Amino acid sequence: MFCDNVSAVMTRVKINTRGAKRIRSGHLWVYRSDVREANDALGGQIVRVADEAGNSVGQAFYSDRSEIALRFLTTSEEAIDREWWRARLRQCAGRRASIARETNAYRLVYSEGDLLPSLIVDVYDDVFVMQTLSQGTEQLKSTLAELLVEEFTPRTIVERNDARVRELEGLERRTGTLYGEAPEEVEINQHGVRFFVSPVSGQKTGAFLDQRENYLAARRVAHGRALDCFTFNGGFALHVASSCESVLGIDISTDAIAAAGRNAARNGARNVEFRAANVFDAVREFEANGERFDTIVLDPPAFAKNRASLASAVRGYKEINLRALKLLNPGGVLVTCTCSYHLTEEMFLEIIADAALDARRRVQLVEKRGQSSDHPVLLGVPETHYLKCVIARVID
Ligand SMILES: C[S@@+](CC[C@H](N)C(=O)[O-])C[C@H]1O[C@@H](n2cnc3c(N)ncnc32)[C@H](O)[C@@H]1O
Repeated sequence: MFCDNVSAVMTRVKINTRGAKRIRSGHLWVYRSDVREANDALGGQIVRVADEAGNSVGQAFYSDRSEIALRFLTTSEEAIDREWWRARLRQCAGRRASIARETNAYRLVYSEGDLLPSLIVDVYDDVFVMQTLSQGTEQLKSTLAELLVEEFTPRTIVERNDARVRELEGLERRTGTLYGEAPEEVEINQHGVRFFVSPVSGQKTGAFLDQRENYLAARRVAHGRALDCFTFNGGFALHVASSCESVLGIDISTDAIAAAGRNAARNGARNVEFRAANVFDAVREFEANGERFDTIVLDPPAFAKNRASLASAVRGYKEINLRALKLLNPGGVLVTCTCSYHLTEEMFLEIIADAALDARRRVQLVEKRGQSSDHPVLLGVPETHYLKCVIARVID
């Protein structure tokens, strides 16, 4: 059914001292400007990489289009064959054994974070969703799908290759099925809360799995009247419902709100209501009407998609955090997130502190959190750390 197209022929690519130093200090990428000689390397091939003195640096995917010319798979000389890929996939699963006992929806492979650059595999019960985001993993797609079937016996493997980053690799954006038949919906269970997920048509690969552990953290501090801004399918709203009197979830997407309503019904959550609205307008209206909340969650889309949009992103984050702090009763908690890689945790905390000053509120830091542990941050590769979640309490 699948053909094995693991590269057997290795081309040698030479990189400059800066590129070699980057890899030897723990990063996995070399930019095109640091490639000295690509020789006859083809896009998507696995190549052996040497420094200017001819010493081996490792083996990497080569891209003939992206600014990221090399994505390292290993710094050793080991053979990268089908069994090598199998072993890496097994290692990913092994690291998530305890997560898989708790939930049937998690990220099985987190690209660079798992030393499998540009490969994402999300598990929704027996439906797997794969993203091959570079020429390298794209070429290996069939082999990788076959190995997933052999190792984990999924019912279906969906390809969600509609991510914009593929364009940087000269790859088309597409969605389809690589194995089995894709169901319209899958039911998943996260900490006793059930959600319907649409792996083919939902945002991202169907759900925001990176917030799974933050849902529980939010539940621990949530109370009273809660507002979940940017709720999507009700992830935070339905998790905090059991510890709150009432929850209102808001999202601009009517599809997301319809799905959130069905999720609430599936869980018998009678104290949760969802509304389609623009959060920026809604929070202003709440303020004008003198409404108050005891718990507010802010989980917006990435406002800073790149470094150039950072300044306007900072204004956006400041605006919603300021409004939310004004809407909180004394003792109220704010669970505030950013998934912009370009906005560091330090910058985010500064924005929240500024917003607190402007709102004339005294705010206590309760917890600094990140993405769920099935999205591991690889030390030395800062790009693997994108989600920041701050839990704060208004004490005055
Ligand atoms: C990061 S996702 C939220 C994920 C969600 N909290 C979860 O845990 O599943 C961002 C959401 O914001 C919504 N959105 C984007 N702009 C918005 C706006 N101005 N007002 C309300 N919702 C918005 C998107 O439709 C998307 O569902």
